[in-house]
Amino acid sequence: MPEHTKVMGKEWADARRAANVARLVATLATTLAGRTGITFELGCGHGHWLAAYAAAHPEEFCVGIDLITHRVERSVRKQTMGKLDNVIFLKAEATEFLEALPPAIVLRKVFILYPDPWPKKKHHKHRFINASSLDLLAKRAVAGTRLHFRTDDADYFEWTRTHIAEHAGWQLQEGAPWPFEQTTFFEERMHAKRDLEAERVL
Ligand SMILES: C[S@@+](CC[C@H](N)C(=O)[O-])C[C@H]1O[C@@H](n2cnc3c(N)ncnc32)[C@H](O)[C@@H]1O
Repeated sequence: MPEHTKVMGKEWADARRAANVARLVATLATTLAGRTGITFELGCGHGHWLAAYAAAHPEEFCVGIDLITHRVERSVRKQTMGKLDNVIFLKAEATEFLEALPPAIVLRKVFILYPDPWPKKKHHKHRFINASSLDLLAKRAVAGTRLHFRTDDADYFEWTRTHIAEHAGWQLQEGAPWPFEQTTFFEERMHAKRDLEAERVL
């Protein structure tokens, strides 16, 4: 690819990211006004899990995000049908969402269920869990914040365990029970549950 095309591509991507973040800043300033902490699901898919979790935890305010519009729309329908006033679903990319999150809001709990495993080695760079995303999550967490991760994929499980173990801001909580069961859209199609829990340590 010619150099000037690469430069234009990067400029376009940067501008699009800045516009997305600005839009999220405006949305979150309204939807999270007066709040101090959230339970966050990254990659909520069709919202099965977070809608059920929010219904069972009225004392928590929950935010689910996903990249894919029709999945977010299905999630919003669950929130509306369930008349749930403690959960919102937004179309957002995770790093953009974390950048746009108002400074007064902390992540109290983070859930990542069945993230895309990107099984081929050459695609591992696309896996959401890495040192820099664990940094981003840690920056918006407080001491005691829990990070819950579930996958069916044995390799992504070990990858995540290793990345968490190597990160000074998160401490693995071996053997901790999964806090809330509700079958997700993808879980129905998977045959294994591999869970990790980590605590934010300062
Ligand atoms: C395999 S699906 C699992 C969905 C849901 N957690 C479930 O178990 O049914 C992974 C989801 O993560 C979303 N996703 C992937 N990367 C993301 C990112 N960087 N920010 C937000 N959502 C993301 C995808 O759009 C997809 O819906």
